[in-house]
Amino acid sequence: QAFDAELAQTDLTNQEAVNNLRVKYLGKKGAVTDLMKQMGSLSAEERPAYGKLVNELKVAVSEAIDKAIETANEAALQKKLASGAVDITLPGTGIAAGSTHPLYDVREEIIDFFAQMGFDVDFGRDIETDWYNFEALNTPPDHPSRDMQDTFYVDNKVMLRTHTSGTQIHYMETHKPPFRMIAPGHVFRVDNDATHAPMFQQCEGLVVDENISFADLKGVLQVFMNKLFGAGVKTRFRPSFFPFTEPSAEMDVSCVFCGGKGCRRCKGTGWMEIGGCGSVDPNVFKNCGIDAEKFTGFAFGFGLDRIAMLRHEIPEIGLLTANDQRFLSQF
Ligand code: PHE
Repeated sequence: QAFDAELAQTDLTNQEAVNNLRVKYLGKKGAVTDLMKQMGSLSAEERPAYGKLVNELKVAVSEAIDKAIETANEAALQKKLASGAVDITLPGTGIAAGSTHPLYDVREEIIDFFAQMGFDVDFGRDIETDWYNFEALNTPPDHPSRDMQDTFYVDNKVMLRTHTSGTQIHYMETHKPPFRMIAPGHVFRVDNDATHAPMFQQCEGLVVDENISFADLKGVLQVFMNKLFGAGVKTRFRPSFFPFTEPSAEMDVSCVFCGGKGCRRCKGTGWMEIGGCGSVDPNVFKNCGIDAEKFTGFAFGFGLDRIAMLRHEIPEIGLLTANDQRFLSQF
């Protein structure tokens, strides 16, 4: 009876109050526990009846308390939910994810392609000496590209590389043919307009073996252009001049945007200029200690920025390095 009265007065939504009630009646020194302990002082005849009664009491109190605990727990949960209410039907707040840079994409694609064809990758170095950037590449002292107007000099004979071709020399000095390699990297020129930036990226290629011909060069570049611009593109090679290749050519690819009919991207010509190439000049082999009688080779070099610009119709080269979020978030 005492328990019933007290239970009626207990706040059943209060976990602590319910627990106190449990301890008071069922705990080690609780009232019901005390009654059980008194069994010992009873006579054998009295015990069964007494035991039965106390047991019934214990079961009743336990059940009532278990129920009360449940009620209290439920109340506590409801309280928690109400205070920190989360509406799971509301749309979430998106996490802003970055994306890869268009130049990075082009570069990775090129490396993947040539790696699959068994080419080694050499990133070279951004600062070169006169020997690697010009002299070993058969570029005479009076060549216009050596002019202060065109080259960023660090010192008299030290400069920011104006092309990745110097990496050819480093590679040939340290490897014996046959070999094939590419050299992607940054290059620097005193230039600044919509299509020329003081810093841009090139990728060099070099293949040296016995019996390598211009036909091999055309074949490799054709397959490469198919990879970059799609199966239908055509290539064309226009005679040109570079001190380190002979013969030299400028390679164009048919415009993928107008199908060669002429549009803004190809300036109405139907062709897009991709880069320079040619058969390695024997003088370059001699400068690197490679037997020019035994070996022949081809080399090519093209601008990564230019490829990215053609692909995405980017009107200004400077956008690629300006780090403007409005530009970058479009890719
Ligand atoms: N280095 C040349 C340039 O920067 C490109 C080129 C590379 C041409 C290799 C021929 C062979 O324009």
